[in-house]
Amino acid sequence: MTKPFTKICPVSPAAQPSIVAINGIDVIVDQSGSQPRLWLNSCPHTGAPLAMQADELICDTGEFECCLHGAKFERSTGLCVSGPCKSEYLETVPSKIESGYILGQLP
Ligand code: FES
Repeated sequence: MTKPFTKICPVSPAAQPSIVAINGIDVIVDQSGSQPRLWLNSCPHTGAPLAMQADELICDTGEFECCLHGAKFERSTGLCVSGPCKSEYLETVPSKIESGYILGQLP
């Protein structure tokens, strides 16, 4: 059965990503590109959150960085490019825009 889409947040392009908690699930919302990208805030290394606050998500190279062991992830794809889970991906949250809001298909 297809999971329903849940309202995540308003469309509001921003250079910095945000972390939105919906029904106990933390979602990273990146609205820096032409289309919003959503990821679970869960590192593929251990399942721990990448960061607890949005301003801790981005490292000096502009990639997402896990606060525990320093894995770095491309913002465009979620691919881990360095660290203990290199070549693994952040889990994508399928999304769509409707009536000015980003909707996500949560796990
Ligand atoms: S928990 Fe993210 S790199 Fe170890």
